[in-house]
Amino acid sequence: MARYAQIVGWGMYVPSEILTNDDLASMVDTSDDWIRARTGIIERRIAAPKETTATMAIRAARAALQVANANPTNLDLIIVATATPDYLFPATACLVQDTLGATRAGAFDLSAGCTGFVYALAVGSQMIISGAYDQVLVIGAETLSRIINWTDRNTCVLFGDGAGAVLLQASDVPGGVLSAVLGADGSGGDLLMLPAGGSRHPASVETVAQELHYIYMNGREIFRFATRVTAKATRQALAEANVNLEDISLFIPHQANGRIIQSAAKSLKLPPEKVFVNLDRYGNTSSASVPIALCEAIEQGRVKRGDHLVMVGFGAGLTWAAVVVRWGMPLPVPRPPRWRAAWRLGRYRWAAVRSYLRRLGRKILSAVIGLFVRDNGSG
Ligand code: ACO
Repeated sequence: MARYAQIVGWGMYVPSEILTNDDLASMVDTSDDWIRARTGIIERRIAAPKETTATMAIRAARAALQVANANPTNLDLIIVATATPDYLFPATACLVQDTLGATRAGAFDLSAGCTGFVYALAVGSQMIISGAYDQVLVIGAETLSRIINWTDRNTCVLFGDGAGAVLLQASDVPGGVLSAVLGADGSGGDLLMLPAGGSRHPASVETVAQELHYIYMNGREIFRFATRVTAKATRQALAEANVNLEDISLFIPHQANGRIIQSAAKSLKLPPEKVFVNLDRYGNTSSASVPIALCEAIEQGRVKRGDHLVMVGFGAGLTWAAVVVRWGMPLPVPRPPRWRAAWRLGRYRWAAVRSYLRRLGRKILSAVIGLFVRDNGSG
């Protein structure tokens, strides 16, 4: 029997602190007018000191599980798309897995810049369609504020923090993720990068002094690249899904720059009501931007069963990707019974206890082994 990967849950989280264009104008030589006119951004969210990519990913993931009324112990796989993981390793996805108590799930991070979520959606849906897995949690989460040079007006006005998640589930109902197109051009890797902190330029006093641990971007080149690939990838994904351009109900592009979105929409001849834009409130949240936009589109009633959605991203790598989804869930989703929500909360508490006990167990075991080795050695 044919298998389909349906989106059955969705959730987002953005930090409460708002940074406006006027705030930025007091930090660098810029203005609200310039930022609005050149990017469309009005404000963005900035993570609190205690918030990280993992903590925001967990908030979005819990919301997605709540919508789907799903049990974290049934998850088969967790993919976190991010360019700003909590650590180079362990993967942020493992931190999410532990906190959710997703005891059966594999977990890994996916690095494809701002395209990460769309890449991860393609990977997750194929895992389901192939028959390997039944439930995959796909998250896009970023704390870009931690790698921004707040004295560089070329980049600091563009980015924001946040997270979005979807739960993919196997289904025999035709629809869900119909096609995916992934692209890369590593020759443009130097146009948008975090130069230091990896194996080529490990963090050192020199890399910090040279400010190589901040985002470097050639904005003009990225702009040109983005306007080229966004419409092209969309057309390719539509052709693969056998869906006509006129049948797109909602176009959900990566929220980097209003002018890039307008140019893609114009090339695709999409009217404004079919194009979702929320970058005015969040800026570019990299791999979180598409899932956050999807959540808000659903919240605003702009998605209904049977609709064809296109999600498209571009970013560091260079990378680009587009997916076509035929929406399969009736909306709005009925609220799950209260006891189910309480039960899930109980499971999260238990996950925290379980994680603590496992750490403690490991410490006790290693202390006992240490004693045993010492005694044997001295005996
Ligand atoms: N305020 C005022 N002036 C500014 C600012 C600012 N914040 N930033 C740049 N300028 C100046 C520049 O210094 C330049 O001045 P100059 O001509 O004296 O040198 C002038 O404005 C024009 O600069 P441009 O780079 O030509 O401006 P442009 O219209 O291209 O807009 C922008 C710049 C907004 C960065 C645009 O190029 C862009 O959006 N590029 C794409 C960026 C993007 O999407 N990046 C994310 C990719 S996804 C990922 O993986 C993270």
